[in-house]
This record gives sequence, C-alpha cells and structure tokens, in this order.
Amino acid sequence: MASVTSLTDSVQQQLASALTATRPEAAGADPLLRRSDRADYQANGILALAKKAKANPRELAAEVVARITTGDELIKDVEVSGPGFLNITVADRAITANLAARLADGERLGVPLKQDAGTTVVDYAQPNVAKEMHVGHLRSAVIGDALRGMLDFTGEKTIGRHHIGDWGTQFGMLIQYLFEHPGELAPAEDVDGEQAMSNLNRVYKASRALFDSDEEFKERARKRVVALQSGDKETLELWQHFVDESKVYFYSVFEKLDMEIRDEEIVGESAYNDGMPETARLLEEMGVAVRSEGALVVFFDEIRGKDDQPVPLIVQKADGGFGYAASDLTAIRNRVQDLHATTLLYVVDVRQSLHFKMVFETARRAGWLGDEVTAHNMAYGTVLGADGKPFKTRAGASVRLEDLLDEAVQRAAEVVREKARDLTEDEIRERAAQVGIGAVKYADLSTSPNRDYKFDLDQMVSLNGDTSVYLQYAYARIQSILRKAGEVRPAAHPELALHEAERALGLHLDAFGDTVFEAAAEYAPHKLAAYLYQLASLYTAFYDKCPVLKAETPAQVENRLFLCDVTARTLHRGMALLGIRTPERL
Ligand code: ARG
Repeated sequence: MASVTSLTDSVQQQLASALTATRPEAAGADPLLRRSDRADYQANGILALAKKAKANPRELAAEVVARITTGDELIKDVEVSGPGFLNITVADRAITANLAARLADGERLGVPLKQDAGTTVVDYAQPNVAKEMHVGHLRSAVIGDALRGMLDFTGEKTIGRHHIGDWGTQFGMLIQYLFEHPGELAPAEDVDGEQAMSNLNRVYKASRALFDSDEEFKERARKRVVALQSGDKETLELWQHFVDESKVYFYSVFEKLDMEIRDEEIVGESAYNDGMPETARLLEEMGVAVRSEGALVVFFDEIRGKDDQPVPLIVQKADGGFGYAASDLTAIRNRVQDLHATTLLYVVDVRQSLHFKMVFETARRAGWLGDEVTAHNMAYGTVLGADGKPFKTRAGASVRLEDLLDEAVQRAAEVVREKARDLTEDEIRERAAQVGIGAVKYADLSTSPNRDYKFDLDQMVSLNGDTSVYLQYAYARIQSILRKAGEVRPAAHPELALHEAERALGLHLDAFGDTVFEAAAEYAPHKLAAYLYQLASLYTAFYDKCPVLKAETPAQVENRLFLCDVTARTLHRGMALLGIRTPERL
C-alpha cells in the first residue's frame, strides 16, 4: 500500500516553500489554495501577507512566482492576476501520473490513513423492543452506517453501539401478560421477522388493553416491574423472550436495508442496569445531583422551560426507578473508561438534543467526560412526506418501515425493467433491491443531516438529477465500456495532452481522499454525496466530448479507458462508504 500525495497538497507545498523562500517570516503561512474556474487553482494568501509586510501585493506575488519551478512535473504555469492572486495550472502529465499511482494502490486509491486516529463510539440504529421501527430509526441507521464507513476509511477506529430500548416500566405489563397467557409469543427461533413483529404487536395491544381496563392486572404488572429490576429469574426469562423476538424482527429490517449489524454491538439500555445505582450514588456524593421531591436530579442554570422554571435531568425517580438518563450516563462511563473512546457520537433525532445536552453536561461535571473526549449529538431532522408534512400514511398512521422499503424496491423494479429488457426476473429482483435501497439511503444522505428531508419515492428513483440511480447508471455505463473494450486494457499514458474535460475529471478524482476526510471530520455525509454526484456529472461531460473506444490513437484509447477505470473505482468506493451498492450492470 502506497499512499499518494494529492495534487492539491503538492501544489500547496510548493507554494508554501516559495513563500518562505521569498519572505522567511512567512514560514507556516497558508497560501489559501482552492480550486478555481480561471485556472486549476487560485491562491489568495499573498494578499494578507503583503498587508502584514506592508509590501505591494502584486510585486510580492511576482517575487513568489519567480521562485516556483514550472514544467512537466507539477505546476505547468503560474501567473499573477487581479490584486495579487496566483492562478495555477497543473501539468497534464502530473494529473495522469497521480491517477496512475492511485490506481496502483488498489482499494484505498492512494488515500492515506490519518496519523492521530482515535476511537469513536457510534451510537446509531437503536430501535425499541416490542415496537415497530419507524422512519426516524431509518435515518439513524442510514446516517450512522455512512458515518462509520467514512470514519473507518480515514483510519479512525469505530465501535458501534445500538442502544436499543429494552428496559423500562412497559415491560412489567408485557411480561405479566405473557406470564398469564403463556404461548402467545412463538419461540424466537421459529419465526421470521414479519411474524415476530405481528406477534409482538398482538401481545402489546392485548396487554395494553388489559392494563387500561383491569386495575388488578395493573397492580400485578407494577409488581412485575419490581421483580424485573431485582433480577427475578423467571421474569428475566420472559423479558429475554421479548428481546429475542424483537431481534429477529430488527435483523430482518436491517437485512432489507442491506446493512450489517453485529450482535455484540447491540448493547441496549438494560446492559447498563447494574451500573445505574453506582452512577446515581457517585453523582449524589459529588454533589452533581441533588434530591428534589424524592427524586435525584441535576439542574442547569441555562436550561429552563415554561414560566422560566429550571428543567432538571432526572437520574432516579422518586419511586427508586432509573430511566433513560441513568442508562445514558452509565453508558458514557463504560464507553470512556472501558472502551477508551476519544469521541462519542450519537446519531439521534433532534428532538432528543436537550436530553443529550443535559447528559453531556452532567458527565462533564462528574469528570466522566474530560477535555480529551468529544461528545457530539448528530441530531438529524424529521422525515417529511412529499407534501412537506411529517411522514404519515393517508389515514394518518405512522408508516411501517418495511412497507416503505418494499415500496422503494418495487418502484426501482419498474425503472430497472424499463431500462434493461434483457435481464431475467432474478436479475431484476436483485438490481431492484440495490437500486431501491440505494435510493432511500442516498436521498437521506445527500441532504444535510440536521435538515428535515422529504421522502419522495418518485424523485428518489428518478434517473435525472441528484439520485443514487443516476450514480449507479454512471458506474454501470463505465463497466459496459470496459467490457466492450475487450482485449484493449486501460493504461495510463502520462505523455498525452489532456482535453479540458479530462483535466476537470482528473483533478476531481484527485480530491476524493480530501473530501472523505473533510466529510468524516464534519460528520457530513452529504459532502461526500455531493462530491460523487459531481464526479458522475464530470464523467458525463468527459464522455460527451471525448470518444473513448473511438479515440484517435491506440494510446489515447487506453488512456481514456484508464480514466474510466479510475472513475468507476472511485464511484464504487465512495458509494460503498455510504452503504450503497454499485451493480456492474443495470
Ligand atoms: N431507542 C431510542 C429511541 O427510539 C433511541 C436511543 C438513542 N441512543 C441513546 N444512547 N439514547 O428513541
């Protein structure tokens, strides 16, 4: 594995050393390089420098230019423009040689691993036991999975935590019902995902009805909660049955989503049960939490609700029970002290951001979150319907996630069938799943996560515009060209002059690694999505202007096939980081 210095970094380095050579006091100054329409790059950093040195910026720029080596190696041309900008053009040879080195590196495409990698615990895809998954859980799963893919690629170590809702008073009601009606829930090993959820739904509804109508049942359910919390064996077994049955369902949904979830990373609220009394004791001893009307709570000056009353975080309820906050606080201790996390990332609905604000602040006060640990709630927005209102069925019910995914796949099947008439039914089904699920993921990921986004299937599976299908087609089209080339193999010819469209494509390909690093550091998968969309657009422009198989010389055919190949590999890798497949044919 050999990583490749990006052209941007190489140009940046050359400029920086020319600057320092001109003005030694400028050592470390940023030349402020960026891509530009006028040339390949423009550097604006000289302006600030000249101001500081009380020099004429255009003269200073000319001095710097005089120290830059131009030629075939890297910088072909540099000129002063405007008030003292530098316009820089990179040599064609450098572009081709750079891409050749990337291709030779294989899977990583020359992208280096980061030096100061830490450990990020990613809390995502956290449905609730005995409950249907909804579109909010979809966003957490899709965004979390993409963030993990990008972070892993940069060299960060990630650990997943699926903090499922598997604890709480509602289990008293469920377990008591199952205790009184044994056999209502089939053994988990005998059911598929759909049956599991329909059984759970039935038991949930029946127990709820009893709970609401029968005072004595209510009392028995309440006692059952106590039994659960004190670790009664029989009660725990029944509880486990609910968890196992739910997992069958979760796994079936994650499989549909084409997402790998590892059993050892499903660590729900219940896992922190044993540590919660200690969490409460420590907080009280340290004075971080105080008793208020029997409950143990934490107050915050700046967090106030109605009538300007302070809103506390409840660590322990007056009846002694522990809730959501206690599990999250205990989880932080575990993730920092035992998993050695340097970053805690929570991919959770924006409606919980106040909760996390209070939990993080409490953990900071307690010293469980030190300065060396970052905690961040990647608070995503709401999923809206095509009408711009929160996503509901026509009847106003919340939409079942599986129905939604099935519909996306069905729509995709129509698109696939129309485009490729020579596919078998099996092939159509396989492609439709990859296109449909890809469309759902891409629509989510191409929007900034903290914004609401519209779930509009028609738009999602459209071949035009910023959709995954458009990207998948670009990829499949390249594969088809590579197949058509037959014996002629892609090969780099750095000696060839490049067409404008080839240069634009090549420079964009060079920026892949920098884009992934930026998108990962900012938890912004939409930046990678935008990069890939632009890549496909630049490829289309190249393809329109530069004949590949019918290019003028055999060397040019090979070189253009080579550009196609690097583009395909970059598309493939980028989409894979987002959790989206790129079928070889469509
Ligand atoms: N299960 C919760 C829900 O469905 C999300 C859990 C988020 N993670 C956490 N550590 N609190 O709303």
